[in-house]
Amino acid sequence: MEFADDDAWQAADYPPMSHPSADVAVNRTVARAAGLDVPEPSVARILEIGCGQGHHLLSLANRWPGAHCVGLDVSARAIHLARTRAQRAALKNARFYEVQLSEFEADAPFDFIIAHGFFSWVPDEVKVGLIDFIAKNLTPGGIAVVSFNVAAGWKERMAVVEKARVIWAAGAEDVIQALAILRTVAETERERAIIDDMLAKGAAVLAHDDFAPVMDAWSLGAVSKLAEGHGLRWLGDSQTGERGTDAADNAAGRTFRSEILYRADAVLGEGKKPAGGAALRTALPDFPKLDAWRMLCVREALPVPDADLKPCVFTFPQLKVMLAMDGSHSVYQLSLHAKEVASDLDFVPWFRHVVERGLLR
Ligand SMILES: C[S@@+](CC[C@H](N)C(=O)[O-])C[C@H]1O[C@@H](n2cnc3c(N)ncnc32)[C@H](O)[C@@H]1O
Repeated sequence: MEFADDDAWQAADYPPMSHPSADVAVNRTVARAAGLDVPEPSVARILEIGCGQGHHLLSLANRWPGAHCVGLDVSARAIHLARTRAQRAALKNARFYEVQLSEFEADAPFDFIIAHGFFSWVPDEVKVGLIDFIAKNLTPGGIAVVSFNVAAGWKERMAVVEKARVIWAAGAEDVIQALAILRTVAETERERAIIDDMLAKGAAVLAHDDFAPVMDAWSLGAVSKLAEGHGLRWLGDSQTGERGTDAADNAAGRTFRSEILYRADAVLGEGKKPAGGAALRTALPDFPKLDAWRMLCVREALPVPDADLKPCVFTFPQLKVMLAMDGSHSVYQLSLHAKEVASDLDFVPWFRHVVERGLLR
């Protein structure tokens, strides 16, 4: 079974949040340190499977105009939003396809394949299809980043989900009420903490996360075995390269992993150290300017991806100040504007924070 367009679980309702594990420049640095000769992302072919509204891919396309970025998703609404945003931000190097993974035929292999928030939320045959697709569609030095929920830490969460589902089915109004009822009879502090964490996520996120129709948590060992069975190798954590173990995950109660896979026939050479450290983004521009993609996020009140692909969420008054960051106002003019539209905002430290997170051009 694959998701049909009219399924209750619709990606357009899934909050468009970027995640730093999908920063292919970081993934590449990690893989090169392990000896894999991964191509340069600025001119690479990058695919995101289950791209939703394209929040990752549009950020990557915005960063590298010479990269060819492709996103696929079964949700018509999500793809429509992704295409509209690409057009509004004038990103010509991002293409989006409304298609199920099993029906997607790539015209050429990819240097980077991202599957974030996908593996744990699709049925087993689609998980296998994903791994098979990656094995058949990576360039020789290409890498894939696959994130998944880890069984070690999810076991106790799933027990809470099961109990809440019973309460829900017995007549609770919605998932939030079911959890609130469960909280009053929770047996341990730990259970209460998990319920509080779920309540904090809110109904919309829970519907796509803990309470999604499919939510499987796997072990690292099981995922790497599946990959090995399809002609891939597991390299390590997508951001650190750390090679963990199931035993360590069990001991730590780990809930999430994002791992790099590569072709089993790729030859690992000597590890290449990253050149230099990351430049500090501290120089304050005289006339601050958001690029077209980030300005679009501000206009639509979407989380704004920072230079590390971490989402930044702003209040409406802060967004009003950011709307004026179009390169035509000086920092001084912005500070006066902030007094009018965001009177509670401590402008200077806030503006420095915006600069340091790499939001400005
Ligand atoms: C949890 S969302 C993750 C979206 C995005 N990758 C992110 O990290 O924000 C999973 C996405 O996978 C899509 N999806 C699920 N099954 C699919 C399939 N078989 N083929 C293509 N897309 C699929 C859903 O429509 C949804 O947009």
